[in-house]
Amino acid sequence: MSESILRTRHTARAFKNQEINESLIREIIADAQCAPSWCNSQPWKAYVVTGEAAKKIHESHRNNVMSNARAWTEVVPPQFEADCWTKEEWQNMRGFWKAADVSADPADGTEDKLGFMEASTWNFYAPAIVYITIPKNATMFSAYDVGAFGYGVTLAAHERGISCIPAYEFIRYPQEIRPLFNIPEDEAIFMGIGMGYAQEDVELNRIHELEVNPRAKTEDILKIVK
Ligand SMILES: Cc1cc2nc3c(=O)[nH]c(=O)nc-3n(C[C@H](O)[C@H](O)[C@H](O)COP(=O)(O)O)c2cc1C
Repeated sequence: MSESILRTRHTARAFKNQEINESLIREIIADAQCAPSWCNSQPWKAYVVTGEAAKKIHESHRNNVMSNARAWTEVVPPQFEADCWTKEEWQNMRGFWKAADVSADPADGTEDKLGFMEASTWNFYAPAIVYITIPKNATMFSAYDVGAFGYGVTLAAHERGISCIPAYEFIRYPQEIRPLFNIPEDEAIFMGIGMGYAQEDVELNRIHELEVNPRAKTEDILKIVK
């Protein structure tokens, strides 16, 4: 039996300079629309930037980061204060940060060996970014649905040899996104997913391998009663 695509998908943070065919993008989004949702409400919308427009977004993102522009997301993110996270969540996040730090040397910055932070400031040079919105007055249940849609995007892409990075980083400056698509005021930009063909053999795409415990033990998150 071949390995499940759930196990072979990993976040990519360095991409080849290769566009994704528009028909593939449409297929990926159409597949992701198969996600389940509350009463089939389908609370998501997807806005995709690619080609020259994506390059302009990367430039403006870099400028916003470097000029310390006010960054905030339209859905309030969790803060890094101790009581926002459980002990287990802190432990998981620390494992990720430790692994990510290995490649966090901006001075290293040739295009195929960018440091983590440096790559972030350039939107990871993702050849395409899918911005996903949620109705502004949505409940937590719609957030569940939109999350399923977003994960569907990453899996549908992965099935086609395309790698993704779901990232808060992409949506820190709504002012660089909203006017591009004329996003209606009653939608909040919830997540961004970068897509492209992953560079091989670069540290930035091996962070998951560097994590000592990439996932909690199943017995620590599962309880079955018979
Ligand atoms: C809601 C969300 C926000 C994320 N934001 C970022 C981000 O801003 N920068 C980044 O490098 N990775 C980001 N990630 C990717 C996670 O770091 C990654 O999914 C996690 O470490 C697990 O690794 P894996 O996707 O390779 O399994 C985000 C993922 C999610 C789901």
